[in-house]
Amino acid sequence: MATNFLWGGSIAAHQCEGSWQAGDKGPAIMDFVTKGSKQSAREITSTILSDKEYPSHKGIDFYNRYQEDIALFKEMGFTALRISIDWSRIFPKGDETLPNQTGLDYYERVIDTLIENKIEPIVTLYHFEMPIHLVHAYGSWANRQLVEFYLHYCETVMRHFDGKVKYWVTFNETNHLVPETQEADIFTYLVAGLKYSEMQNPDEELAMIGYHMCLASVKAVRLAHEINVDNVVGCVFGLNPIYPVNCDPENVLKAYLENEEDYYQIDAMCNGAFPRYKLQEYKKKGIEIFISEEDKQDFKMGRIDFIGLNYYMSSVSAPKLEAGEGKSIFGGMPNPYLAQSKWGWGIDSVGIRYTMNYLYRKYSLPLIITENGLGAIDTLGEDKTIHDQYRMDYLTKHIDAVEKAMKEDNVECFGYLVWGPIDLVSASTGEMSKRYGFIYVDLDDAGNGKMDRYKKDSFYWFKETIERKKAGNVKK
Ligand code: BG6
Repeated sequence: MATNFLWGGSIAAHQCEGSWQAGDKGPAIMDFVTKGSKQSAREITSTILSDKEYPSHKGIDFYNRYQEDIALFKEMGFTALRISIDWSRIFPKGDETLPNQTGLDYYERVIDTLIENKIEPIVTLYHFEMPIHLVHAYGSWANRQLVEFYLHYCETVMRHFDGKVKYWVTFNETNHLVPETQEADIFTYLVAGLKYSEMQNPDEELAMIGYHMCLASVKAVRLAHEINVDNVVGCVFGLNPIYPVNCDPENVLKAYLENEEDYYQIDAMCNGAFPRYKLQEYKKKGIEIFISEEDKQDFKMGRIDFIGLNYYMSSVSAPKLEAGEGKSIFGGMPNPYLAQSKWGWGIDSVGIRYTMNYLYRKYSLPLIITENGLGAIDTLGEDKTIHDQYRMDYLTKHIDAVEKAMKEDNVECFGYLVWGPIDLVSASTGEMSKRYGFIYVDLDDAGNGKMDRYKKDSFYWFKETIERKKAGNVKK
């Protein structure tokens, strides 16, 4: 690993900040999503209901405690932290001309604190965070006008933080626009603030949303490079390899094609054009996408500089769907060769190496692991210790696999960021009890707790791991 290899973690504004109305922040899509659980989906309400728990409203109070939290990241030896800027703090409604200074000031304080601590800020511009007004007034990303609003927001923050932020991420996991899965409602909502089941013409809407987001990304990359040639801009995708259930060629092909559904946006952002095979697929469904000459130019000139990989698990493609059984983003079938997390995610460290190889050989772009980790139930002992050997086991195996991809397979990768280095709200379930962190946050699913922070065993382990890896580099 190169000496400048980045070690650290990733967090997202709506999952940690809380203070959902502070500093003139506008209401954003996730502010309307209640707590769910492994058994029951999160509810999406049209107004805020007093008898419901909305985890984004409180988060883990990172908004007020960022200094304390960044000090803990520093203590662990982080050299990078991926944060997201919440669009609704900068433009409360999304379509304003002038930004909200209080929002810019808040992120400036966070970014300055990172820089003072020699932690490289990696800024995601859109991590499931969009002003709800853009959904109500414009119909979200199905409307091309969203591209302009997004670019205005990007330009505002890129200029404001020019010279302080070098690494930008245009979007987080827009590839989860997958129809007909058990989790379609929450996933189309996370990505675009729209429930799949309420779409009038879902195929067409998903096609338009996907196209506009790809266009917005390539335009944002061009813009970032124009603002500062030193800007390094990527996009982050959540990928879990889909394995065939057996070697029947029909099943191998089925798994391959399911896997590829996640890749058309990456193709669009890396190959210099929106993929022809996708346009043909739309055409067969009667969907025409208007691509202007200017769009074509943007796709050519706005290729991303790196790919961010969020990796948690692998999936198995079922041979055929049984009646009543839906396809699932989180793996259709359990893999008999793998253990599963408490949330049913197949624990597969080989899968990260597989996916890194697949991405690198397909696109020849540097990778960064932008998210990886184990969601687990942790118990705070009376002596305030947390013994999370399971998390260390998971991470050790995954870090080993990343190193193998780099050393043995020659994949170019410039960093490894753990998801949720401090416990935060789960995106899919809204639970606090699904914890990923090295730092325990005293808050339960019902919102009780003082939000005090405690170091888990893995805190010391990760600190030691980073030290050891860095020392290994120096010796070479
Ligand atoms: C990624 C998202 O998909 O997975 C994060 O980018 C999310 O926002 C993470 O939190 C883990 O998923 P979950 O549902 O366990 O929080």
